[in-house]
Amino acid sequence: MARHLITSALPYINGIKHLGNMVGSMLPADVYARYLRQRGHDVLYICATDEHGTPAELAAKAAGQSVDAFCGAQHDAQKAIYDGFALRFDHFGRSSSRQNVELTQHFARKLHENGFIEERAIRQVFSLADDRFLPDRYIVGTCPHCGYDKARGDQCENCTRVLDPTDLIESRSAISGSAELEVRETTHLFLLQSKLQAEVEQWIDANSAEWPTLASSIARKWLTEGLQDRAITRDLDWGVPVPADVWPELAAEGKVFYVWFDAPIEYIAATKEWADAGGTDGDRDWKSWWYEAGDVRYTEFMAKDNVPFHSVMFPATQIGTREPWKKVDFLKAFNWLNYYGGKFSTSQQRGIFTDAALELLPADYWRYFLIANAPESDDTSFTWELFSSSVNKDLADTLGNFVNRVLSFSRKRFGDDVPAGAAAGPAEQKLGEEIAGLLAEYEGHLEALQFRKAAAALRALWSAGNSYLEEKAPWLEIKTDKEAAALTLRTAMNLIHLYAVVSEPFIPASAQAMRSAFALPDDTAAWVTQEEAKALASVPAGTAFTVPPVLFAKITEDDLESYRARFGGGEETAGA
Ligand code: MF3
Ligand code: ZN
Repeated sequence: MARHLITSALPYINGIKHLGNMVGSMLPADVYARYLRQRGHDVLYICATDEHGTPAELAAKAAGQSVDAFCGAQHDAQKAIYDGFALRFDHFGRSSSRQNVELTQHFARKLHENGFIEERAIRQVFSLADDRFLPDRYIVGTCPHCGYDKARGDQCENCTRVLDPTDLIESRSAISGSAELEVRETTHLFLLQSKLQAEVEQWIDANSAEWPTLASSIARKWLTEGLQDRAITRDLDWGVPVPADVWPELAAEGKVFYVWFDAPIEYIAATKEWADAGGTDGDRDWKSWWYEAGDVRYTEFMAKDNVPFHSVMFPATQIGTREPWKKVDFLKAFNWLNYYGGKFSTSQQRGIFTDAALELLPADYWRYFLIANAPESDDTSFTWELFSSSVNKDLADTLGNFVNRVLSFSRKRFGDDVPAGAAAGPAEQKLGEEIAGLLAEYEGHLEALQFRKAAAALRALWSAGNSYLEEKAPWLEIKTDKEAAALTLRTAMNLIHLYAVVSEPFIPASAQAMRSAFALPDDTAAWVTQEEAKALASVPAGTAFTVPPVLFAKITEDDLESYRARFGGGEETAGA
């Protein structure tokens, strides 16, 4: 079995994330990791909070806390929410960890030894009112490319261009609002990405063939525009310090690495955190996952704005160390999930945030809906109408109702054990063939990381049970042929068990509820083989069962009203 290393883009520490953020990174990564684990692969799924940089400092300031305390509290808050969504990380780390400080400094030393880092005196914006340099988001102004007037020093949120603070027009301090700015000279470390262009290009040529077009086209675009040398240090209090053994003056000035330099390194460092937290037997093997790890398949999950950093810049950093670090094999990129056609926005508190979502409904409702509607080939929109119709139709009617109907009817007529009844006939054989075919399709889509298609195949599996039940109509069979009715119910119960096993990556809690309906003495089934799917006999006659509480409650018109009222129905922004 292959070893699978999986990472999802590190959620930034500055606040609770919205659903749009989770659907393009952590959630699909979790579905994929769960699927691979169920199939018996050795899986390591790593994530962490991204804690450095100006947004962390600004958010801490706004919260009236030290950055350190702020990040600690926010990390715990995010972690609790991800637990609530049943995201099963092998480790959820922190980019401010000791391990990341060490590893980031190691990367910088190696890049320096190999001639890829250079000190350069540059002109930086200095705020007289704040008595400090204003890197990145500490400065706001008008974007020189598109005219957006709230562009930040590092990037324009409107046109997504990466900016330099000195590019901004009519700039002002994000701390004091002061426009009393001057440009001063200061020395920073530059990563000479231009020297790595050819090697990155070669690596992309050799490795990106099977990536989604969304990912490879963004990578190509950056390469075509040409890799620029980039400043990788900042004048900030919070971050990974520049190592004093190599750059004593810069270290003395208190320079730290730029957040986008240390954040991807945290994927590796978080694996060290995981290893160091290994308990009494200690020493989990972090290095074999990342260093000379030829047998590992590494898959990354992220939204499209993160692709340049992961497809080009981080690989350039890795290549420049001249050490055999594991580079991404498959880069799964997502478009945006919108809220009624407009953007979800953390800064504007628009859309649905992950904490609020969990207060409203259990995680499985969100997990299923979001993955079934993942913005894979295009941006997609969340609307309460679409959400409720998909929950009601797919989860409540097709799956939940099937489970409850079959189990309660059988208990009423045949008691607490799976009934024996007649031997399987042509209808069951046909059903078995159909289920086996759909299962193979479902597996294929998950292997290919095609999440919407996988969800469609899963739905088709659920529907096949309903069609079978309608066709056999055990509530009629029972009147004339008890044995026939018992066969139908026994077969349907086997479908329920199969659904429990194969739905687990999408809806783990409900899957558990379905599975534990049956008192199978030795239920270790992690997955379903083709033969088992065809036979539909894993739950034998005589197995005791219980009827679980209703799996999915329907969302009513009243619910919808209150959700729209609380979150806004998007009226004011439709079409924006
Ligand atoms: N925090 C970044 C974001 O929210 C993602 C960082 S991914 C990593 O867009 F590669 F840097 F870790
Ligand atoms: Zn712009």
